[in-house]
Amino acid sequence: MEELISKIEKYKTEIAGSEASDAKGVEEFRIKWLGTKGIIKEVMGEMKNVPADKKKEFGQVLNEFKLFTESKYESLKEATGNGQLSSASAIDLSLPGDPMPLGSRHPITLMRNRIVSIFQRLGFAVAEGPEIEDDWHNFGALNLPPHHPARDMQDTFYIQQNPDWVLRTHTSSVQIREMDKGKLPIRMLMPGRVYRNETVSARSHCFFHQVEGLYIDENVSFADLKQTLYFFVKEMYGKDVKVRFRPSYFPFTEPSAEMDVTCFICGGTGCNICKKTGWVEILGCGMVHPNVLSNCNIDPNKYTGFAFGMGIERPAMLKYGVNDLRLFSENDVRFLRQFTSAI
Ligand code: PHE
Repeated sequence: MEELISKIEKYKTEIAGSEASDAKGVEEFRIKWLGTKGIIKEVMGEMKNVPADKKKEFGQVLNEFKLFTESKYESLKEATGNGQLSSASAIDLSLPGDPMPLGSRHPITLMRNRIVSIFQRLGFAVAEGPEIEDDWHNFGALNLPPHHPARDMQDTFYIQQNPDWVLRTHTSSVQIREMDKGKLPIRMLMPGRVYRNETVSARSHCFFHQVEGLYIDENVSFADLKQTLYFFVKEMYGKDVKVRFRPSYFPFTEPSAEMDVTCFICGGTGCNICKKTGWVEILGCGMVHPNVLSNCNIDPNKYTGFAFGMGIERPAMLKYGVNDLRLFSENDVRFLRQFTSAI
């Protein structure tokens, strides 16, 4: 009995000093000590030779010995990476890596980036502003005083808690914010989401995206506006596309125009997209109204400027052949994953 106990003590010293550098070493440890033909089993077998009155005491020693070995086994396993193959030689470098699915950009983002990058080459910088605006930035400063009939041109969402707040109906509000900063000249692009209370259908939505532009300096003329937009159209739709300006009305520009390009689907011969006219309208523009400049403390006798604004959805629909506007906001991955991240 004494002999057995001192044998167990020796074993314990040996176990305490055991090391394993890899899973193989851990497994060898397990087989040697805890295996079906292992040392623990062998020592257990000695139980039958122990006198009956000592059985209880010896049982405890044995039990403690087993727990000690098991806990050593667990710690060896942990130290070598949970018994997984971990030594350099055990890694199979020819196995394929974990797949990393690449996302794709939203088609509206792709189109926005495309538009922005063209104007950036002319020196336009990007400015952003809040989607919840006060009446002054969305209307008042843009020469749309309260009760002005042109407020009806855009069906506005008002914020219930404070009717002075609206969901911006255009990103022209960001133009006001830029002018308010008082740093001239200004050559800015304002991309962003805008809201109008329209029935949701394949062709219209209660929110959509715009890119507006603003250029203010001394001696800016309508000729500058036209050249800037000609450049844009050429880069965007190709050099064969023709452009025409139609007189229009916006309260914040004078004179105002809308710009059409020859239909890039049918080339101008007439199709469903251009309603057989051969032309598609792509943007509104004009010379910044002197009242707008005054509202932002810019001297209209010294400075002039032009502004323009276009929707992103329509060109995106035409470019990517999307026939329902609602697809852009439904977040259906089957739709979204068709677009690559290229511009
Ligand atoms: N803000 C106008 C709109 O949303 C677009 C526009 C911008 C027109 C700038 C002229 C000048 O319809």
